[in-house]
Amino acid sequence: MSQLIAKTVARRYGHNIPVISTVASANSTLIAKRRRFHSSEYKLYSDPNVRHKTAPVPPEPNKNPAVGLGPSRDESIGQKRLADFDLAGRVFIVTGGARGLGLCLAEALVETGGKVYCFDREAHPDEDWKEAARRADKWGGTLHYCQQDVQDYKGLDKTVESIANTHRRLDGLIAAAGVQQICPAVDYSHDDVARVMDINYTGVMMTATSAARQMFKWKCHGSMCFIASMSGQVANKGLTSPVYNSSKAAVVQLARNLAMEWSPIRKDGTGGIRVNCLSPGHILTPMVLKNFEEVPGLREKWEAENMMGRLAETTEFKGAALFLLSNASSFMTGNNLVIDGGHTSW
Ligand SMILES: NC(=O)c1ccc[n+]([C@@H]2O[C@H](COP(=O)([O-])OP(=O)(O)OC[C@H]3O[C@@H](n4cnc5c(N)ncnc54)[C@H](O)[C@@H]3O)[C@@H](O)[C@H]2O)c1
Repeated sequence: MSQLIAKTVARRYGHNIPVISTVASANSTLIAKRRRFHSSEYKLYSDPNVRHKTAPVPPEPNKNPAVGLGPSRDESIGQKRLADFDLAGRVFIVTGGARGLGLCLAEALVETGGKVYCFDREAHPDEDWKEAARRADKWGGTLHYCQQDVQDYKGLDKTVESIANTHRRLDGLIAAAGVQQICPAVDYSHDDVARVMDINYTGVMMTATSAARQMFKWKCHGSMCFIASMSGQVANKGLTSPVYNSSKAAVVQLARNLAMEWSPIRKDGTGGIRVNCLSPGHILTPMVLKNFEEVPGLREKWEAENMMGRLAETTEFKGAALFLLSNASSFMTGNNLVIDGGHTSW
């Protein structure tokens, strides 16, 4: 075979090339080079005087804004199944947690060991909430209820502070309190615009800043998730909700800006708070069921608008909330996770 190659080369280039010997000598040069490299490498790492100059050294923690946010190797590698998702002992606040999506996401945190405080303006939570609280024991987490309107900024700040003081920590927030108002733009009153924005946008801002103050105080590095909506990116076909949709766009932009301010860990140990948004498509919740009563044919229209031909259940967002609030998303901040059955993708 080698003679055949030599003949072919000779025919093409008009002279004899010692193919075998060229390959063989190239190989032996390579092997010799490798041997020299490995023996010098061995010397490098076996000589303590050389090693400290060449081996990689982790950056000084205060100069590395990511330290403390990443999952520890001991915790996450082979020690325990999916330890990155473990929230045992951590304390969270979920606004709009009396029912619907907020309650379901609160359950995700409880099921992984979190101590979760649901805030809502309702005097009493739904029957579903009570059922969820009964189940909480089973998972090692706890579920608590506080009647707290996010428009009452002073009361909100006090309630957040008292929770953080009780546990001497606060690890994160899901801001899900929100309202919808269907109304043609020209008929929207100033008061109605102000009310929707005050709950959906200012309420998120004030809850986040109250929580951040406590997280700074207790030097807790953690995560926040604002519930925005795909409606922050597209107008909903069949639904005149100009203020709701723009309030959700504002929340996405708010998350980016707070992430920029709060994500790095400062020299005094404060910071290290990641901030992201979750933007769901249409979900079957009390809010949406009310929309269906108000607008005939809306359900069918919405079902046809996404690639899956159906609306979502609240449980389909639990994994995403757990991901965003846990170490599993430790390198994610200032982002917007859209889960909409493909609605905004075509
Ligand atoms: N359902 C959907 O299709 C959908 C889609 C995308 C985003 N979202 C968002 O998800 C979040 C939850 O919505 P949902 O569908 O579960 O609605 P929902 O009406 O069932 O739940 C909203 C909760 O927020 C509470 N709330 C309202 N105003 C409040 C205030 N001022 N202070 C405290 N609590 C207040 C309500 O009492 C209620 O318990 C909202 O932010 C909503 O905009 C919903």
